[in-house]
Amino acid sequence: MKKIIVTVLTVIMTTAILAGCGSKSASAKDTLIVGTNAAFPPFEYAGADGSPEGFDIALINAVGEKMGKKIEVKDMEFDSLVASIGNKIDMAIAGMTVTEERQKTVDFSQSYYNAVQTVIVPVDSAIASYDDLLDKKIGVQLGTTGDFTAEDIVGEGKGAEESQYNKAVDAVNDLLNGRLDCVIVDTNPAEVFVGQYSDQLKAIDGSEFGFEPEEYAIALPKGDKELLEAVNKAIDELKADGTYDALVKEYIEK
Ligand code: ARG
Repeated sequence: MKKIIVTVLTVIMTTAILAGCGSKSASAKDTLIVGTNAAFPPFEYAGADGSPEGFDIALINAVGEKMGKKIEVKDMEFDSLVASIGNKIDMAIAGMTVTEERQKTVDFSQSYYNAVQTVIVPVDSAIASYDDLLDKKIGVQLGTTGDFTAEDIVGEGKGAEESQYNKAVDAVNDLLNGRLDCVIVDTNPAEVFVGQYSDQLKAIDGSEFGFEPEEYAIALPKGDKELLEAVNKAIDELKADGTYDALVKEYIEK
């Protein structure tokens, strides 16, 4: 009898503890697990010791400090970030563009940077306008707005083909070895990649192709108002006290 009672009590207590953890809002935790995809310089990349570094990482650490929370950054595939928010991770910072599709499942902080999809081509390429892309081999990072842009181009049915990569740099390598005609990726990473091969590649601003401007924001669990407000307040403070500008200078405009 005693054994049964102990077993029953253990089951009830374990269930209660697990349920408690599961429903604990991120704003009640001491440490926030923040997902990123460290293959997107200058916003996030693997540092000398392999751990993620870059503008976004510095920004989220500063946000955490303002909020009085510890930040633990978790490197993941970009394509799995949105679905992991609220379960594997508490939020994501990954040069992530605010899109209506993503807003169906997550909330976004105020925007902290702007970008536009940029087309990387070999220096001697004739690609200069949207119509020039309609029959080209296009490389993108899987699940990104560059990927969705390329899908639209393929959807025009003029023969364009899209190759999706887990990392944009792998697409750039296939552009260098001639397997692709162009790579579509955000402004600043495009500049970094082209800077590494400026004798072979050039970047054409997306405005030449009619691509829409994009805004980066931190992705948060849907409906956690307290967390959203705390993150936005922290960003406001960082913008007001000069930290934000200092980070832009250190990581992006260097
Ligand atoms: N801004 C683009 C998007 O939201 C690309 C972001 C890719 N970020 C990364 N860390 N790999 O889809």
